[in-house]
Amino acid sequence: MGVFSISTRATVQPFIVNTKAVVDYYNVYIMTVTLVLAIIQPIVSILHPLLQVGTRAKDLPPGPPTLPLIGNLHQISGAGDYGHRQFQKWAEEYGPIYSLILGTKTFIVLNTDTVGFKKWTRVVSSASAQLLDLYPLLRRLPKFLAPNYEYARELHKKEKELYRSHWLAAKERIIKNTARPCFCDDLLKAQEFEKFDDDQAAYIAGSLLEAGFNTTASTLQGFVLAMMVFPDVQKRAQQELDEVVGSGRLPTMDDVADLPYVHACAKESLRWMPPMVYAAPHATTVDDEYMGYRIPAGASVIPNVWYITQDPKRTPHPRVCDPTRHMNNLQSEFQSAKSSNVSERHNFVFGAGRRLCQGTYIAERSLFLDLWMKKANITPDINVLRGGAAIAPAPFKVIIKPRSKERADLICGVWADTEANVLDPEAKEWKHVPNGMVFGTYVPRRVDV
Ligand code: HEM
Repeated sequence: MGVFSISTRATVQPFIVNTKAVVDYYNVYIMTVTLVLAIIQPIVSILHPLLQVGTRAKDLPPGPPTLPLIGNLHQISGAGDYGHRQFQKWAEEYGPIYSLILGTKTFIVLNTDTVGFKKWTRVVSSASAQLLDLYPLLRRLPKFLAPNYEYARELHKKEKELYRSHWLAAKERIIKNTARPCFCDDLLKAQEFEKFDDDQAAYIAGSLLEAGFNTTASTLQGFVLAMMVFPDVQKRAQQELDEVVGSGRLPTMDDVADLPYVHACAKESLRWMPPMVYAAPHATTVDDEYMGYRIPAGASVIPNVWYITQDPKRTPHPRVCDPTRHMNNLQSEFQSAKSSNVSERHNFVFGAGRRLCQGTYIAERSLFLDLWMKKANITPDINVLRGGAAIAPAPFKVIIKPRSKERADLICGVWADTEANVLDPEAKEWKHVPNGMVFGTYVPRRVDV
């Protein structure tokens, strides 16, 4: 008040009144602002992180433009059977490494052998991309409202029932000593020693079966397709078989070294039509940095197997099936997958690092043993595929004919002999372990993880 009271009363009085009004005005103003802030702040603090959902931080690898909240989800979800082509287009646009933002999750896509596979060996835990993973907040919804929850639960229930029924039946037979030889022999020994429950045992056996048969079957379908479109490859493979094996017997694994072209056909099939277009996504456990970009902890890293195997810089004319590409490098799929020189690797489809496919030897052997007998005579479109992350050619018509009666008789004879002497008549499984086959290799030992 001091400064105001030195003036005359007449002039001071209204001024004091005015000053009071001004002070009141400011008080009201401050209170209003405080109130508005008090209301807005929680809204902003809720909205701000929400508005960040779907946006790409500046230090992440580049990628396609995002939309608020969904990021790139809309570009992925419509891709259907052709997701691999969209991933390929982005690789051409953004280079060796790009990022996708799907809801709250970051996905890092690796597009070259060198970038991809050095990095990939450093990431470990598995990751998936269901809506509940992309928006973890949705998990707080009542279960009946959570998208896909009921469907996934039902699916899991059925899967578990199936796996458990198979495992428990096998276990019972092993205990009663009526079992036919099978991987479950070792699994039961491991269960007794390591004390894991039947659900876990059932999933080990069940997922092994699933991991093995679809992938190998899709690769073989791809091979049949390739033989129809590239008949010269088929002719050359048949010629090699005629020279090395002849028509009096079937080829065996002992012939591998003498059948380099047929061996290379198996390798080219895995490159030409890799059944897993992104191998398996894995999540980073710690923040990392690569090529100047931040790779945040928890990001899913996806190896773009389709792009790497179809990259014309790495493989000229990639859609041509040409086994001669592999003739100088016939190391086994397992050796190749473990090779420290990633640019020499011919397979990317089995993954890399610690979680590498456990079935590479079986896969390679199955492919080798199956490839030799195919014959085809119609030309379908090689670019029509079905599936998402796991692909196979779309159904196509093929006639597979023996090349001569002699060969047909040979195959039928071997099958009849196998049925009579090797297989159980009902289950069509081995009665005994075939001679010379290594079996029952499990040795109980403590492993510190
Ligand atoms: C062409 C054939 C095959 C392909 C393309 C293939 C591909 C793959 C891929 C990409 C993975 C994931 C690797 C990762 O997590 O990084 C995998 C895992 C696995 N595969 Fe294969 N696979 C094939 C055949 C087989 C066969 C024949 C078996 C066994 C009989 C098998 C057993 C497994 C198992 C047990 C895993 C899980 C390994 C783990 O999670 O630690 N696979 N496979």
